[in-house]
Amino acid sequence: MLAAELRLRLVERRRAEASEGVGLEATVRGLVDDAAGVLSGPRRERIVDLILRDTVGLGPLEELLADRAVEELMVNGHDHVYVERRGRIERSDVRFESDQQLRDTIERILAPVGRRVDELSPMADARLADGSRVNVVIPPLAVDGPALSVRRFTASRPDPDGLVASGTLTEELRTLLADAVAARRSILVSGGTGSGKTTLLNALSAWIGPDERVVTIEDAAELRLRQTHVVRLESRPPSVEGRGEVTIRDLLRNALRMRPDRIVIGEVRGAEALDLLTALNTGHDGALSTVHANSPADALRRVETLALMAGIGLPHEAIREQLARGVDLLVHMARGEGGARLVTEVAEVVRAAAGVGVREVWRRG
Ligand SMILES: Nc1ncnc2c1ncn2[C@@H]1O[C@H](COP(=O)(O)OP(=O)(O)OP(=O)(O)O)[C@@H](O)[C@H]1O
Ligand SMILES: [Mg+2]
Repeated sequence: MLAAELRLRLVERRRAEASEGVGLEATVRGLVDDAAGVLSGPRRERIVDLILRDTVGLGPLEELLADRAVEELMVNGHDHVYVERRGRIERSDVRFESDQQLRDTIERILAPVGRRVDELSPMADARLADGSRVNVVIPPLAVDGPALSVRRFTASRPDPDGLVASGTLTEELRTLLADAVAARRSILVSGGTGSGKTTLLNALSAWIGPDERVVTIEDAAELRLRQTHVVRLESRPPSVEGRGEVTIRDLLRNALRMRPDRIVIGEVRGAEALDLLTALNTGHDGALSTVHANSPADALRRVETLALMAGIGLPHEAIREQLARGVDLLVHMARGEGGARLVTEVAEVVRAAAGVGVREVWRRG
C-alpha cells in the first residue's frame, strides 16, 4: 500500500511530468531518490518496484480491459460491474472484494496521470495513456460506493466511408455533409450520451482542407484528425489546492489568437457557447462541435441557454441573432437497434418568428 503522503506527492509530480513526456517509472524513481536518498541503490530499486506495482495494477479490471471487444466499463460500487460490447450492456462476473479495493484501483488509475479524488473533490475526469476516458465519483456523492466509468479508446475512429458502411451515414448524407464542411458551414452534431457524436465529429474533420490550420479544444483529447497542421488543446481541472483550472472557454479565447482556419470543440456545454457564437459572427466560420440534446430544436435551445447564462445582461434578442447568423447546420444522432449509431435528422438554422428556429433538410426515411 502506497503511503498517502507519497501518493499525494506522486500525483502532484505526475501532473507536471506526464505532460512533459516523462515516463511513470522515471517519476517514481525521482521521487524515491529525493525522499530516500540515504538508502542504498538496491533498496531504493525495491521501493520503486513496490510503488509501481501498487500504482499501475488494475486488479479485477485487468481481465476486462484485456478483452478488446469491451467498449465501455462501468463500476457502480464494488460488486456491480457492467461492460458494453458492440453496443450491448451486460453485467459482468468480475467484482471487487470491497469498496476499499475499488478505491485503491481508482487511485492507481488516476495517480499516473496526475489526478486524484478525495472528500473535497469527489469527482474526476482523466484520460489514460491509450486515449481511454475515465470518470470517477466517490461517496458521499455516489451513494452506493465509488462509481467508475471507462470509455475505451477504440483505435479505429471510423472515417466517412466506415460510417457509410456501418449505416450511420447514407450516401446522400455523406455528400451533403462533405459539401457543408468544405463550404465552411458551421456544424453542431447533437444527440444523447454515447450516441456517437464525437465519432461523427471526428469523421467530419476528414473534409477539412489539408492546408487549413486546425485547433481542437476538448476536455479529454479524443479526436484523431488526419490532417498534420493541427494544434490539440485540452482543458485542465483545478489542482488539489483549487488552482490552475483552464476551461474550454479559456482555451477557445486563446485559440482565436492562434490564427486558426478551423476550430473544432469537442463539446459545447458551458460558457464557451457565448464565445463560440461571438467567434462565428466575427469571421471564424466553419467551426465544428457537438452538443448534448434530444433533437435539433433542443440543441439550438441548449446553446442559446448556455450563451445566455454566460452573458448575463446581454439581450436575449442579440444572442438569438448571433445563433441565427452563426450556426448553419445541426446533425442529429441517435442509437438504433442492436447498438447501431444513426444520423436521424439534419436541420438548418433559420430566422423565425421567435428569432431563430430550425428547418429540416434531411430525415431518415
Ligand atoms: N457510428 C458508430 N457505429 C457504431 N458504434 C459507434 C459509432 N459511433 C460511436 N460508436 C460507439 O459508441 C461509443 C460512443 O461514441 P462517441 O464517443 O462518439 O459518443 P458521444 O455521443 O460523443 O458520447 P458522449 O455523450 O459520452 O460524449 C463508442 O465508444 C463506440 O463504441
Ligand atoms: Mg462525445
